[in-house]
Amino acid sequence: MMLKNLTQLQKLVLSYVNISSVVPMSLTNMSLTYLDLISTGLYGKLPDNIFHFPNLQVLFLGYNYDLTGNLPKVNWSSSSSLQQLFLGFSSFSGELADSIGYLKSLNFLHLANCKFSGSIPDSFGNLTQITAIFLGGNSFNSQIPFTLSNLNQLIHLDLRGCKFSGSIPESLGNLTQINYISFWGNSFNGQIPFTLSNLNQLIHLDLSGNNLHGKIPNFIGKLIKLEFLGLGDNNFNGPFPCGVANLTKLVALDLSSSELMGPIPSNISGLHNLQELYLHNNSLNGTLPSSLLNLPSLTDLYLGSNRLTGQIPEFQHKSKLMHIDLNHNELRGPIPQSISNLVNLTQLDLSSNNFCGVVEYLSMMRVEEYHS
Ligand SMILES: *[C@@H]1O[C@H](CO)[C@@H](O)[C@H](O)[C@H]1NC(C)=O
Ligand SMILES: *[C@@H]1O[C@H](CO)[C@@H](O)[C@H](O)[C@H]1NC(C)=O
Ligand SMILES: *[C@@H]1O[C@H](CO)[C@@H](O)[C@H](O)[C@H]1NC(C)=O
Ligand SMILES: *[C@@H]1O[C@H](CO)[C@@H](O)[C@H](O)[C@H]1NC(C)=O
Ligand SMILES: *[C@@H]1O[C@H](CO)[C@@H](O)[C@H](O)[C@H]1NC(C)=O
Ligand SMILES: *[C@@H]1O[C@H](CO)[C@@H](O)[C@H](O)[C@H]1NC(C)=O
Ligand SMILES: *[C@@H]1O[C@H](CO)[C@@H](O)[C@H](O)[C@H]1NC(C)=O
Ligand SMILES: *[C@@H]1O[C@H](CO)[C@@H](O)[C@H](O)[C@H]1NC(C)=O
Repeated sequence: MMLKNLTQLQKLVLSYVNISSVVPMSLTNMSLTYLDLISTGLYGKLPDNIFHFPNLQVLFLGYNYDLTGNLPKVNWSSSSSLQQLFLGFSSFSGELADSIGYLKSLNFLHLANCKFSGSIPDSFGNLTQITAIFLGGNSFNSQIPFTLSNLNQLIHLDLRGCKFSGSIPESLGNLTQINYISFWGNSFNGQIPFTLSNLNQLIHLDLSGNNLHGKIPNFIGKLIKLEFLGLGDNNFNGPFPCGVANLTKLVALDLSSSELMGPIPSNISGLHNLQELYLHNNSLNGTLPSSLLNLPSLTDLYLGSNRLTGQIPEFQHKSKLMHIDLNHNELRGPIPQSISNLVNLTQLDLSSNNFCGVVEYLSMMRVEEYHS
């Protein structure tokens, strides 16, 4: 293809141009510094030597779903220059070899939703310039290396759905610049390490869908920049972590599907930005705090399958609630008439409780789903 003849070419950007061709057997343009072929329909096996262009700084080949290839096992000749590597949403496979540690200028690595496997080499900790790592949707049946803690420029770490196991390394607490962590959908076990309390720049922390256990630590209340906290679908027990009341920037909180027990503290009323609250499938008991139903930004409230008792408190006029799920609790009494204030309510599930006198208010509403 064209690359062959344009030997002086340094920067080539063809992203979203439909080339739909098989990649050439060899690429000889050694002066390239910037190659962007995102979503060009390239397919077939990428020749290894592209990683060895000695001046390459940016290599973007992602969103070519049928493009295959492996990362070199030897020192990449681009290792001093390469700064950004994006292969996400392609069919690259194989292991991340030790040699990845030579990429000492790399600051952006996106290999998500490829077919990589094996383990993450310890040499990963040599990528000390890196600020963003996306490895989600690969199959690393291994632990994450403790050397990750050397990456002190790291801002964004996305390891969702990678089949990682073992405990969350304490050394993660050294990544004090980090503001995004997603470990969603792995097999991490053990407790949330104490050292995470150091990560006070975190905006997004998602540890949902693992096998974590123990109490949800109260130090979570120190992570006051958090806007998203996902701890659902684990084996946590003990009380609702009252430190959460400190997290006034929270927009979404998911503590569902664990074994939390005791009351929902009423001082989560301070979470005035909270839009989505998922606490279903625990053993929370006590009454429903009025302050909870009347959180000013709340649109989604999922409290099903707990042991909540008492009546539903009155709803305020300005409520934004759209989805309410209180099924499988021990709530009783009349449904408050103020439920008709919920002008935007589209889903209401009150099934498997002990309510009486429900239907007259509901007939006035545009409720799509309703069980009792
Ligand atoms: C790896 O390759 C780069 C670029 O060719 C070179 O500068 C560097 O010294 C090599 N590193 C090692 C440890 O061989
Ligand atoms: C990574 O760093 C360690 C310690 O400095 C060094 O021994 C090792 O050779 C490096 N490995 C790679 C692949 O860069
Ligand atoms: C990282 O954290 C561990 C455990 O928390 C600590 O022992 C170690 O000294 C820290 N390493 C660095 C490089 O700060
Ligand atoms: C709440 O946040 C403050 C900082 O604003 C912190 O000093 C305090 O320890 C936090 N409380 C809890 C319970 O985490
Ligand atoms: C919320 O209430 C709990 C006990 O009910 C208390 O321990 C905690 O410090 C309170 N948190 C805030 C931020 O007021
Ligand atoms: C409820 O939570 C338990 C763990 O506490 C989990 O095993 C189960 O699958 C969850 N059920 C649903 C319907 O989410
Ligand atoms: C809630 O559950 C806890 C632990 O099982 C129990 O000690 C407490 O008495 C219960 N509270 C209410 C109000 O039922
Ligand atoms: C209801 O939804 C509409 C459209 O999404 C929105 O503009 C309006 O502010 C909502 N009302 C309340 C009370 O949240």
